[in-house]
Amino acid sequence: MSFRIQPAPPARPNRCQLFGPGSRPAIFEKMAASAADVINLDLEDSVAPSDKDSARNNIIAAISDIDWGSKTLSVRINGLDTPWWYRDVVDLLEQAGDRLDQIMIPKVGCAADVYAVDALATAIEAAKGRSRKVTFEVIIESAAGIAHVEEIAASSPRLAAMSLGAADFAASMGMATTGIGGTQENYYMIRDGEKHWSDPWHWAQAAIVAACRTHGVLPVDGPFGDFSDDEGFRAQARRSATLGMVGKWAIHPKQVAIANEVFTPSDEAVAEAREILAAMEQAKANGEGATVYKGRLVDIASIKQAEVIVRQSEMIAG
Ligand code: COA
Ligand code: MG
Repeated sequence: MSFRIQPAPPARPNRCQLFGPGSRPAIFEKMAASAADVINLDLEDSVAPSDKDSARNNIIAAISDIDWGSKTLSVRINGLDTPWWYRDVVDLLEQAGDRLDQIMIPKVGCAADVYAVDALATAIEAAKGRSRKVTFEVIIESAAGIAHVEEIAASSPRLAAMSLGAADFAASMGMATTGIGGTQENYYMIRDGEKHWSDPWHWAQAAIVAACRTHGVLPVDGPFGDFSDDEGFRAQARRSATLGMVGKWAIHPKQVAIANEVFTPSDEAVAEAREILAAMEQAKANGEGATVYKGRLVDIASIKQAEVIVRQSEMIAG
């Protein structure tokens, strides 16, 4: 480890973030009753320009009127290149109750985007005497966002989570894709005449995970658009979990259970992690830094890997 210790991210379950348009209040109760850890009420791209004001009012009312239980309650505001975002922040923080936990800022391209929202939020909180500071989450979904991902991860102590938004990211990068996340038909290699598909999101995900882990922010995988394809969603979620992400968005309620399943360490994985920790305790007692577990090397780094799984499982259970 560097002399600079890696900070821990917020200790909250973030396995699934369920989205719903602010212009569709009929589904808010269903969202609250879901098994998602985080709720994202949307003012941005799932809301038509003519509905922005009414969606904002729906959300402000619902924040207080609906019992959101212990979920993290987040509202996605409009992007900083639109005429709506300042009114989103002002009305939410002036009018919505203290139950609002978090604001999601889309299409962040540099640390100054977060700074602008932070300055506005800080002034409103002080003026209104809000008892609790809202946290922020951001979406990396542009070439600028990924190019500046580290300064964005370091941009504000309010920053709790960072997601990859695959569709806008692909458009901004000029990628020849149409689907939202997942396997892309033309991204393959040939071996012995057969196609083997690769993962075009891998690099962006790994860059986000590295920036987040450096600065104590939760890395999250964004949407998977084809909600009829459970196996495609599961495969994408498993790849994200393998790379260090803690959760994934659901853009339809049927995706919630799959995300929760993938991002909850299985009983077998936790049992194996505990066995590795026990094996290393024994090794330490014998004055050894490495030992053999099920025919393979485990050493002091294995303790840290095993602790990631055990900590995640305990945090979710708690
Ligand atoms: N959260 C909670 N419940 C939802 C829901 C959501 N996001 N989307 C749909 N439902 C409910 C429906 O009301 C319906 O309930 P019912 O069985 O009581 O009638 C049930 O789930 C099945 O819905 P279905 O008919 O399959 O979907 P739909 O056609 O009503 O809606 C979408 C499909 C994709 C338009 C809708 O899920 C949606 O708006 N998703 C979020 C989009 C979004 O926020 N995008 C921004 C981030 S990328
Ligand atoms: Mg987007």
